Amino acid sequence: MKTILVIHGPNLDLLGQREPGVYGRVTLKEINNGLKKIAKKRKATLKIFQSNHEGEIVDLIGKAKVKYDALLINPAAYTHTSVAIRDAIAASGKIAVEVHLSNIYSREEFRQKSLITPVVKETILGFGAKSYALGLEALLDLI
Ligand code: DQA
Repeated sequence: MKTILVIHGPNLDLLGQREPGVYGRVTLKEINNGLKKIAKKRKATLKIFQSNHEGEIVDLIGKAKVKYDALLINPAAYTHTSVAIRDAIAASGKIAVEVHLSNIYSREEFRQKSLITPVVKETILGFGAKSYALGLEALLDLI
């Protein structure tokens, strides 16, 4: 059975009430429940974390090398700033899929660059909460 590390970055704990016009009304708990259903159907195990702290996310990814088979990540605001998270994903050597609820390329200019995209296998964005489901299905197909 494959074990997938799922990481939600900063402020994603606020989903449901955070800028619903941009991110929708689905809560993080609902997203995670949807992911668990997919994992069950596809006979995979998920380890799910949300963190507002860059170093904590780097530490989690550091453990992926030995503990997990692949990584599903929404790095949230760190997408646009974190060389450390990018380097951690590259160092892990694991297949990773990056997801975003919104289409970052149709938003403010500062969001239109992802430091993460070059080190992941695929990026899925713009489908709201469904980006996560699509991302997990794609990741499970890849590994
Ligand atoms: C996001 C997009 C980021 O620009 C933003 O900082 C987020 C969420 C998304 O899922 O659309 O927090 O990653």
